Amino acid sequence: MPHSVRVIVFGRQGAGKGTQCARVAAHFGVPHVSTGEILRDAIARDTALGRAARVVLDGGGLVEDSLMISLVQGRLGEQDARTRGYVLDGFPRTLVQAAAFDEMTAARPAHCAVDLEVPREVVVARLLARRREDDTPEAINHRLDLYEAQTSPLIEHYRSRSSLRVVDGVGTQDEVFERFRATVAACLG
Ligand code: AP5
Ligand code: MG
Repeated sequence: MPHSVRVIVFGRQGAGKGTQCARVAAHFGVPHVSTGEILRDAIARDTALGRAARVVLDGGGLVEDSLMISLVQGRLGEQDARTRGYVLDGFPRTLVQAAAFDEMTAARPAHCAVDLEVPREVVVARLLARRREDDTPEAINHRLDLYEAQTSPLIEHYRSRSSLRVVDGVGTQDEVFERFRATVAACLG
């Protein structure tokens, strides 16, 4: 049986996490777990989680750490993720989430933490072209401010644990995919 592949991915809104994580996950044959997709799906189905998350997503804020931690812990505990691994897109997003993630995966840590790096001015242009329902200018700016304040400290957190890999996210989708794929492959040794 092939080894499992366990990767966490962060990057600014619009960096291309969803686009690239789907391709990388398909390439390595592991589940793509996107916390943003899980939340949007819960909103569409009007579940209790969706009702709690809707206002937060519309305003560009972050859903409460404890809720996100139990959601991810549950998802990574499912059979496919336990056996094959995961490409985790959008979690952890705060140092509290990172500490919880490191603890829940202490027995089998992620192979690497990928920072998909795209400058702020480039992501703003991408997002304005995309027009997802929660992509209002106010929400976009608020999310990008929150990224600098809450998520960018994860770069140092994972650098100090030597699992950080920075992938340049500027270029065509194929160019970025090739860099990302090669980076993950190198982490697997
Ligand atoms: P989430 O869905 O994770 O959104 P996000 O981080 O804001 O990022 P996006 O999904 O908007 O962008 P992306 O990096 O995936 O880029 P994409 O591939 O779409 O989270 C949504 C919300 O859920 C959060 O704001 C928060 O409220 C909540 N949430 C989620 N996780 C949470 C957590 N852990 N804790 C608390 N709250 C949480 O690409 C963007 C666009 O660019 C697309 O149009 C794409 O076609 C285009 N594009 C992609 N690659 C390229 C390229 N190389 N060149 C040109 N264009 C490109
Ligand atoms: Mg996304």
